[in-house]
Amino acid sequence: MTYSRIVGTGRYLPERIMTNADLEKIIDTTDEWIRTRTGVERRHVCAEGETTSDMCIEAAKVAIEDAGIDVTDIDMVIAGTTTPDLIFPNISTIIQHKLGIPACTAFSLEAACTGFIYALTTADKFIKAGEAKCALVLGAECITKLVDWNDRNTCVLFGDGAGAVILKPSEEQGIISCHLGADGQYKDLLYYPVGASNNLAAAGTDAARIMMTGNDVFKVAVKTLGKIAAETLEDAGVIKEDLDWLVPHQANIRIIQAMAKRLDMPMEKVILTVQDHGNTSAASVPMALDVGIRDGRLKPGQLILMEAFGGGFTWGSVLMRL
Ligand code: ACO
Repeated sequence: MTYSRIVGTGRYLPERIMTNADLEKIIDTTDEWIRTRTGVERRHVCAEGETTSDMCIEAAKVAIEDAGIDVTDIDMVIAGTTTPDLIFPNISTIIQHKLGIPACTAFSLEAACTGFIYALTTADKFIKAGEAKCALVLGAECITKLVDWNDRNTCVLFGDGAGAVILKPSEEQGIISCHLGADGQYKDLLYYPVGASNNLAAAGTDAARIMMTGNDVFKVAVKTLGKIAAETLEDAGVIKEDLDWLVPHQANIRIIQAMAKRLDMPMEKVILTVQDHGNTSAASVPMALDVGIRDGRLKPGQLILMEAFGGGFTWGSVLMRL
């Protein structure tokens, strides 16, 4: 059987760091409130003029080097993002061209915080079908550009960044099982009220800001992620005790703790970046994966569950051997 396997990872974080103390100066909040409710201590923020594709390119260069491949080996680019540079062309074509990747299949996916899990699942199918031999898969977000820095309910949560992986066919076990889901009935709990075909005139006004009912998002996220984790393990015929690591979407430390509890996993087996990155939406899972691999905690052969939940709502999980 042919699997798809991650053979290289990379991440990029913008230079500028904004701490909770910095936020205390602009909104009515405290470091203590932010840390205890969210786990976030600092986040990276894109520079003026820095785009999502700029970050993707830096993350991709690291992943390409890590995988020991040449850009000419890549025959597919898929990026998960809700904050592309332009409405069109899609961001993957910009990445493909700027990196010097030969013309190939290149498209982007929009699934909010689940964007990378959707992109990785899609690339896995192409590779297993024999239609791609080497995929560059990214999750990236300049989400702070959508943030209203006067809205303390949301601005404390988010940060920018990009994560990239190289996915190739392998006879050794790699991605074992992927599960995706979505339910648009929850749209009003988390959304951005401006789009290309709706309310475009509001872009740049005070009305253009992330709308979120935090409490409800929290409850549905925990319930749904618990269910999808159980389904993923059952589908793969593995039990929770078999899992070596959880690499979750870094939305909020309390959501992550609740997930770990459901999986009977101690927090020592969970890769956490929320304290340093905040919620980077589609970028959070590939960046956390890269952090865990590079600091030596995640090792070849280990069984890893990645999961995410985001606006839509969308959700997804990938179970894999590294
Ligand atoms: N600083 C100080 N006080 C604040 C702040 C802040 N930054 N933000 C809100 N408050 C206040 C509120 O005004 C409220 O005050 P009140 O009681 O006087 O009205 C009080 O704190 C409690 O507010 P709640 O919204 O009930 O706080 P809660 O404990 O639910 O925490 C939070 C809010 C952190 C957003 C939480 O609901 C959450 O994490 N939800 C999950 C949503 C999420 O992670 N979204 C990210 C995107 S989606 C995703 O990635 C899954």
